[in-house]
Amino acid sequence: MPEDDTQGEKNFFTDTPATTDAFFLKGAGSYDWGMKNRLARIFRPESGRTVMLAFDHGYFQGPTTGLERMDLTIVPLAPYADALMLTRGALRSTIPATHTGGIVMRASGGPSILKDLSNERIALDMEDAARMNVHAVAVQVFVGGEHETQSVENMTKLIDLGYRFGIPVLGVTAVGKELTRDARYLGLATRICAELGAQFVKTYYVDEGFDRVTAGCPVPVVMAGGKKLAELDALTMAYRAIQEGAAGVDMGRNIFQSESPEAMIQAVARVVHEDARPEEAYELFQELAREQVPA
Ligand code: R5P
Repeated sequence: MPEDDTQGEKNFFTDTPATTDAFFLKGAGSYDWGMKNRLARIFRPESGRTVMLAFDHGYFQGPTTGLERMDLTIVPLAPYADALMLTRGALRSTIPATHTGGIVMRASGGPSILKDLSNERIALDMEDAARMNVHAVAVQVFVGGEHETQSVENMTKLIDLGYRFGIPVLGVTAVGKELTRDARYLGLATRICAELGAQFVKTYYVDEGFDRVTAGCPVPVVMAGGKKLAELDALTMAYRAIQEGAAGVDMGRNIFQSESPEAMIQAVARVVHEDARPEEAYELFQELAREQVPA
């Protein structure tokens, strides 16, 4: 038996009401603690934004340029990312278990670049996701694609399972050759993901009307990177997306295919978390890149 708790006077601070903090992420106020906690491992509570490093490309296109040896090219970048977007194969084979940053895991797959990419199935058991301590799972949604309904069903099944485990789902809006990449289409696709329960959505930046895409989506929108651009152009795209309402970026090739990936990811973080203008971030990129070149 513990001793009687009779020492001193108890203090219940009866004059101080208990606080109930509002959660910092758009649309997330009513989620359970575990789901909020996982989202706070992806999005920095101080800025409400995230820099995700995407390197899940191998799940449909094999050893992508820059990802031939993820142990050599990606592991050194991991400390600079708020979250890594990857496959479970990459996590277990390559990422040290001492990694403490966010993990967003690819949960759909099936077809390779040799086939119709929209014909995906769920490719990850949510119990295994929980076993690996992931903070969210990502699923591709092909609105307007050949297998639109199947891909939407993949997402809704993962969302239902995600609620059992407190694991959020990232809906990734895929664009295909046959789909127009404009604000009208991306507004449709992101809204469908959010309405059906995705806790955050990834979509591409468009020059016209991106602010309407983010405003019309009731959950955070993260900007997708896309094909490799010149560093200043990629930083400009990230800057515009953030200023037009994105809650972060999920960039792959524009970071790991950069001439200086470590410098680039730090420059992107400056844009995302500190609202740095592209020119300022590019200066940082050049400065860091110079420091990293062996003498
Ligand atoms: C895109 O939706 C897929 O998840 C890709 O494998 C990856 O995330 C794309 O990254 P990036 O286009 O920035 O190289």
